[in-house]
Amino acid sequence: MPRIARDLQALKAEVLQRPLPRHVGIIMDGNGRWAAQRGLPRIEGHRKGSDSVSEVTRAARRLGLPALTLYAFSAQNWERPPDEVEGLMDLLREYLFKERAEIMDNDIRLHAIGDLDRLPARVREPLDELRRDSAGNLKMILTLALSYGGREEIIAMVRKVAEDKLRPEQIDAKAVEDRLWTAGLPPLELVVRTSGEVRVSNFLLWQLAYAEIHLSETLWPDFGELDLLLALEDFQRRERRFGKTSAQLRRS
Ligand code: IPE
Ligand code: IPE
Ligand code: MG
Repeated sequence: MPRIARDLQALKAEVLQRPLPRHVGIIMDGNGRWAAQRGLPRIEGHRKGSDSVSEVTRAARRLGLPALTLYAFSAQNWERPPDEVEGLMDLLREYLFKERAEIMDNDIRLHAIGDLDRLPARVREPLDELRRDSAGNLKMILTLALSYGGREEIIAMVRKVAEDKLRPEQIDAKAVEDRLWTAGLPPLELVVRTSGEVRVSNFLLWQLAYAEIHLSETLWPDFGELDLLLALEDFQRRERRFGKTSAQLRRS
């Protein structure tokens, strides 16, 4: 067995011995740089990035992660050159057809968050169909953040609070969470950002409050099972204190 494969198996065995995060979010970044390094058009980086989505989803499902949220297209990404946006929408459509069997056969529920009405019909239709068809699947919930922004999600939540005519004393964390696009998902416990960037870029702003953050230098098209395992291993080494002291945690 090649060394890297043996290391991967050993790491997987270790990671599986400890508790896994209930919900992992990934800011999938670096597709453009991956392409530029090879003298290729940016879209080729996105194409290779779509293969990473498939690989990481499969690995997450096999490990038994209950929820995986992938930041695929931000509200701000609409401002990119029109041909790049079009290319990304084509890849998204292709992904939805290509991954259908994998999602259904592996009992994965597909979910999406963001301003989905902005997506072109050629994406929204297969997306809605797969969300509908996979709604009863139970093993893992795979959420695609599409046309997604954390600030936009908070604005939408505040609008719902106003529509529901809540009195000030009725507004608490539960009232907020029930009105976010992520309502019903497990709490976000780990966020990974690839490609060495160190910022949040409008991802899950409310939900990030106590998530652990893992920064990976790997560009998203090169990201695979091994990188996911390294992120999980990093998470498992953290002491999550939620504002308390280490001594208090040891006592409880
Ligand atoms: C992430 O890769 C994919 C999207 C944001 C859609 P980028 O396209 O941002 O790649 P870089 O950051 O330019 O390398
Ligand atoms: C964040 O990446 C959005 C997604 C991964 C979909 P960007 O590449 O758009 O973020 P910035 O521009 O570097 O902050
Ligand atoms: Mg980027």
